[in-house]
Parts: sequence; C-alpha cells; structure tokens
Amino acid sequence: MRISLLLVTALSGLAAAEDGLNAWLRYARISDAKSYHKRLPSVISTLNATKGLPVHTAGEELVAGISGIFGKKISVAKSVSSKDTTVTVGTVKAYAAKDAKAAKALPELIDDGFYLKVSRGNVLIIGSNERGALYGTFHYLKLLAQGNTSDFSLASNPDAPVRWVNQWDNMQDGGTHGSVERGYGGDSIFFWDGVIRSDLTRVSQYGRLLASIGLNAVIANNVNANASILTPENMDGLARIADAFRPWGVQLGVALNFAAPQLLGGLDSFDPLEPKVVNWWQGISDNLYKRIPDMAGYLVKANSEGQPGPMTYNRTLADGANMFARTLQPYGGIILFRAFVYNHQTLNQDRDWKADRANAAVNYFDGLDEKFEDNVLVQIKYGAIDFQVREPVSPLFSHLRKTGVTIELQITQEYLGQQAHLVYLAPMWKEILDFDMRVDNKTSPVKDIVSGKRFNRKLGGYAGVVNVGTNTTWLGAHTAMSNLYAYGKLAWNPSLKSEEILDEWTRLTFSSDRKVVDVLRKISMASWPAYENYSGNLGIQTLTDILLGHYGPNPASQDNNPWGQWTRADADTIGMDRTVKNGTGNAGQYPPEVAAMYENIETTPDNLLLWFHHVPYTQKLKSGKTVIQHFYDAHYEGSATAQTFVPLWKSLKGKIDKERYEHVLFRLTYQAGHSLVWRDSVNQFYFNKSGIPDQKKRVGNHPYRIEAEDFTLKGYRTYKVSPFEAASKFHAIVTTSNTTVGTATTKLNHIKTGRYDLAINYYDMALGNSTWEVYVDNSRVGKWKGDLEYELGRAPSPYVDGQTATRITFPGVKIKKGAELKIVGTPDGLEPAPLDYVSILPEGIVD
Ligand code: GCU
Repeated sequence: MRISLLLVTALSGLAAAEDGLNAWLRYARISDAKSYHKRLPSVISTLNATKGLPVHTAGEELVAGISGIFGKKISVAKSVSSKDTTVTVGTVKAYAAKDAKAAKALPELIDDGFYLKVSRGNVLIIGSNERGALYGTFHYLKLLAQGNTSDFSLASNPDAPVRWVNQWDNMQDGGTHGSVERGYGGDSIFFWDGVIRSDLTRVSQYGRLLASIGLNAVIANNVNANASILTPENMDGLARIADAFRPWGVQLGVALNFAAPQLLGGLDSFDPLEPKVVNWWQGISDNLYKRIPDMAGYLVKANSEGQPGPMTYNRTLADGANMFARTLQPYGGIILFRAFVYNHQTLNQDRDWKADRANAAVNYFDGLDEKFEDNVLVQIKYGAIDFQVREPVSPLFSHLRKTGVTIELQITQEYLGQQAHLVYLAPMWKEILDFDMRVDNKTSPVKDIVSGKRFNRKLGGYAGVVNVGTNTTWLGAHTAMSNLYAYGKLAWNPSLKSEEILDEWTRLTFSSDRKVVDVLRKISMASWPAYENYSGNLGIQTLTDILLGHYGPNPASQDNNPWGQWTRADADTIGMDRTVKNGTGNAGQYPPEVAAMYENIETTPDNLLLWFHHVPYTQKLKSGKTVIQHFYDAHYEGSATAQTFVPLWKSLKGKIDKERYEHVLFRLTYQAGHSLVWRDSVNQFYFNKSGIPDQKKRVGNHPYRIEAEDFTLKGYRTYKVSPFEAASKFHAIVTTSNTTVGTATTKLNHIKTGRYDLAINYYDMALGNSTWEVYVDNSRVGKWKGDLEYELGRAPSPYVDGQTATRITFPGVKIKKGAELKIVGTPDGLEPAPLDYVSILPEGIVD
C-alpha cells in the first residue's frame, strides 16, 4: 500500500509524505485501480476554459485526480470525437453555446450550483457559473476517490450565497496574539513582517481545499485589523493573494480598521458622517477594486474590545456599516458587519445584578433593522457571548427581519481544546442551525434565518473563523480538519448529518477501510459531549482561563472582571440569572415561545440551566441529580470517554500510514491526560467553593497518587500552585534554582509486587525545555522533555497552571513492593522541572 501510494504521488506530482498538506484531496491510489479503467472517461473536454479561471482548474484537477486515484492517464483534449468517453466541464452558458437544446433541459441551478451526470463513462459537469463547474468537478472526484463510478445524476445548489472564511491573521508576528490570533497551526500563510508574503503557494493550496468544499471567499486579515493593510504596497500584495485564489473561485475580502482614515490617512477624524472620511473610504474601495475587480467585500469589527467604531462619534452602527456599503455598491461588493459589539471595560458584576454581556448585541442592533443598506450583512456569532462549548443561539437572529445575516462559526477551537483536543464540532453546529427560534410562533430554524429563506432575504450565509497556518496539517492536527470539512459541507447544505460528513471526510483523508471509518466515527461523535462534560456543563460555559490562553481550566477567571463571561459562583449558588422576572432580562430577548422556555427553570433544558438561572448547588436537575453531583459525575464521565480514544485509535495500527498514526496517537494520549487535569481542577474548585462532597467519594480522594511534595526532595522544593485547583492537593514541586538538578525519591511500600502504569503529572511551561527522568530501583523507566510548546500549537503559558499541567504514562512497569521511585528533574531556561504527582495504577485503572 505504501509503495503504491508513493508511486501515485510521484506520478501526480503531489507531496509524497502523508503530512496533511493535501488533506482530503490526496487522490490516493485505490486498490484494484485498473479494474475501474474501462468505466472511466478517456478524455476531458473543458468548455470555453481560460487559464486562471475555475473551469480551466477543473480540467487540471481531473487530470491529477484520475491519474492519482486510478493510475489512468487522461488529458484535456482540444477536440473530442464521438468515440471517446468524455468528461465535459463548463458553465451553463458555454454548454448552451454548444448544445442549446440540451442546456434547456438542465435542472434549475442558482449561483454556484452544478449539475453532474455520470453515464457509462461519459460525465457531464455543468456549473451555473465557473465556480459551480469546479464544485461539480470536486464532487465527482470525491466520489471517484471513494471508488464510486456508478451512473447517476444530481443537481446541487447551495443553501446560502455567502460561504466565507475569516482568517484572523496578523500582519506581523509578535504582540499578544502572534502571527494568527487564536491560530494553532503555525504562522500566517498570507503575511510576514508587515507585508504580504512573496511566496503564496500555500494560499493557492488553501484555495483548492476551500473550493473543494464549496467555500467562496476569504477575509485574510484579522478582524482586529491593522490599518496598514491598506497601504499601496499591501494593496498590491492583496491583489496577489486574490490572484492565487481566483483559479479556485475563491474571492478575497478585507477586514478594515474603522479608524484607518486617521491612523493611515492622516485625517483628524474617522466620523462616518463626515464627507472627507467618506471620500477617503471611497478612494480605498476604488483603489482596491482597480487591483481586484472581483473583490468580495469587507468585514468590520467596530466598537468592540477596544476597536474604534461609529459610536466613538455618537453615530449608530448602521451609520458605520452603510458608509462602507455605499463605497462598495458600484462594484457589487458586500460588507459583513459584526454583531460582536460590547464594551469589555464597563461591565460590573458586583454593582449590577442585571449587567449582562449576552444582552449587548440585541441592545445595540435593535432599532437599526430598517436602516441598513442592502449590501450589509450583520455577522452574528452563534451564541450571545463567545464560542463557548455550549451557548443558546444568539437572540439577535430573531430580531433582524429586513437585514441579511451571516452566522459566525469557529473552526479554530479557541475554547474547545485548540486542536490539542479532538473535538468534532459538526454536532454542535447542527444543534445551533436546527434550533427553532419560533419567530411569530412559526417554524424558524436558524439555518433558514441565515440562508434568507425565513424572512425572504436575498443575501445571507456563513462565516467560519478558520485560522489555518503554515503547518502542513493546516490547523495543527490532522483530525481537526474534519471541522473545516464539515463547515464547508454544512454551509452548502445544513441538513446533512454530522456522521455522513465525517465518514466521507475519513474515507478521503485516511482510508475507506470499514474499521477506520467506524473508529473515527466513534471517537469524533463522542468528542463534543466528552469535552463539554469535562470542560463546563449545564451551560456554565467553557471554564477555561479566559484571561490567559483560553485553553486549560481556571473557573475563577470567569468572574470579577469586566469581560462578562460570569458564572456568579459563590459558596452556595451558581449560574447567571438571565430571567426577566429577576435577572438580566436576556431570556426576554428571544421570541415569546423560546423566552417562556428559558424564563422557567422547569422548562429550561438542563444543558443550559446555569446559562439562564442562578441556583443553589443542591438544585435538582431533571435527571434527579443535584447540580453539584452532576458536575462531579460529568467531569468523571467526560474524561473517562477521552481515555477510550487512545485504545480505539491504537486498534487502527497498520491501517493508517505511520506518520499520521503517530501524530494522532500523540495528541489523543495528551488529550486523555489533559482531560484528567480538567476533571480534577474543576471538581476540586467547586468542592472547595461549595463544601459539598462527591457522593461517590472520588473528588479529592486519589488512593493511587503520591504527591510530589511528599517525596524526599533534594534540589526540589514545594511550590504552592495558583490557581490552587491546578495541582493535586494544591502543591507541586519545582527545582530550587534554574540551574539546580532536583531529585525526588520515595519508597513504594504500600504496593504489591506487580506491573503498573506509572502516570506522572508535570507542568510543561513555555519558558524552557526541562528534562525529567524516572527510575525504579535505579533502573531508568523513562525520560522526557518539556517541549510541548513545539509539539502542540495550543496557547503556551509561562505558569505552573491548568494550561501547562500534563500527564505522561509509562505502561506496564514492573515494580516490587518497597522499590525506590526516583524522579530527576533538570530545569531549563525558566522552567524549573515542575512535578505534581505520580499515580501507581494497577492495570485497567486510570486516576
Ligand atoms: C474572542 C477572541 C478574540 C477575538 C474576538 C472576536 O474574544 O478571544 O481573540 O478577537 O473574539 O471575535 O472579535
């Protein structure tokens, strides 16, 4: 299998290694490839193809795909004889020029849609436009890659016209967010050192992936936009990016800094109603369209998290959005104006029980619905706060009737494990998209509001924050790419099932082997519920460190700051009271039927209880459990599920190429360990706060553990960890100086002679690469380095905390009763070889 793969890739000119670069477009040689040849077309005919445009690309892609998958040489012919079996690709218009009658008989296609017919080796791929023809081609090639050459015909139209990607790429590395804000797959593929990269090969490869899943535009620069994107030099660079995308039918858009007239233009104002400001922006749009005639439009984040906006001048958000919209109208461009507007400095939890960040979007946008220009779409994050593991749908979706909207989904897993945890997001997005808002007491699923169907709007759709980087895996982990795949598929057709999307992705990415498909399905479908269980359940949000990297556990960080992601947890109670009768009134922002459901504890689903209600820890759920016992149990269940991912994946050994097998195994093993860190931190935190013990006596009670601070220490000292819950029994050990080698020893008198899994919890900080060695009776069992900051793209932390807490396990170690266990820690840089505890685990036990 390996040999034939190498051969194929050599033939088709694709990268030889399974490094992820081709993601689901590997065109890997199928087994028994030759047997398909007679059913395949023998020539390609592209209608009216122009080099650099999608129909031409489609021809090239067919050549690469058919030769890769089947080893069959096929080329684009200048003229085709009736004897050849032919794959014909083109637009409806080009097809009509050739055969008007046949073109008339085509089913109805809307923009970007395609018709595909396979009939005894003859294939017809007709797009409503060039892009549609390319989409149809990819659809056909994906079927071929799965060994499907059967006859059929299909007309496929997108559910919504806007299917965009937002990248949060910075012009410059450095600063708080580095090269890509909330990106975990390496540096920006677009920018370096303040300008557009000279080599845009990766941009073109990205365009290919996006086109293959029906995505049609990219905003390349961060919503927290740097005005310097609009210098003449950078506009030229943007034109080169647009050129790299164009063959794939992907248009480029630009994120704008509202204050650019002042920051870049030297004006004394950026008031959207001042003529000189309007003129300045018109000049920018003119200059951009001169360079990029097919530019998609703009994305603007205004008056949010410190960004400038129209409200700086007491103008409305509509005044701001419309200013840009009008400059785009001569060119047919659109503007996505974000609803993510709130003031992160003024919210005060102590003084105001009714303060609520979740209310902000509706408060700011109510009254503006009639005021927007037609080419403005309001871009709304799926929930009212910020990409949490579970949020109710943003109420704003039900308020805007006249104004088109896009739903903003996040493919980059900012609050969901940052690609170091496998979390398949399609099931979460499906719940959001299928949620019925009951506007005017009528069926109003979010997907129909977004597409424009529900309120008869022409424009609408999807914006996905993707944040790929230069890593060959794109997102930092092979498995995370199922989320990008699912995003594209759902933006095209939100009624697809999460499982069917995943299975297709698996077959194209890894293998059609039944077992591979089954295992990835098992792991992926269990992953979001597991992550929710161990990171934050009952609607309390992802209990992560919101002040630092948004990665590891730190429940206390949610409260007592103006970011407004509050839990309001105290010794007796927890949750946000968002009722109308007694709380922030947020429940009342929903249409009446939904509002009534959320207003009452009895009708609020358990999984959103703490989002809408402030209750005692002893509050009974519908399951009969108390809130606190549910917390404890869910954290145990979720982390137990994460443990199963490792053996499941291991069962695929030999069925996946070594490179990707090891890569995924490494991450799943890490995730299994970090899920225990989550479990123990969150449980410990609420146990301490509430004083209510776990009925099952697990929390704070770990019989297999030996605390590092209880070892005999030389060159190591005890260290009080903050936040306290990030360490077992609140303490770790660190070396006494940055150059002292530490030794921690203990006698294992309490165990029987036998084989054990030796699990060691340590902290891998970003400040150095310490080395740890572990010995049993002076024989070395293992050695490892604290270099996860290179291995995982997740946000690094310089602290001994929940982000850096990590577990390593040495399985099946033979240990005699009374043996000496010794750990030697060698610090490096500012990382003092920190250790939390060791668990001596009998077979089958994980704690
Ligand atoms: C989150 C995220 C920020 C981002 C912001 C946004 O708050 O943490 O990095 O800038 O959302 O969507 O604008």
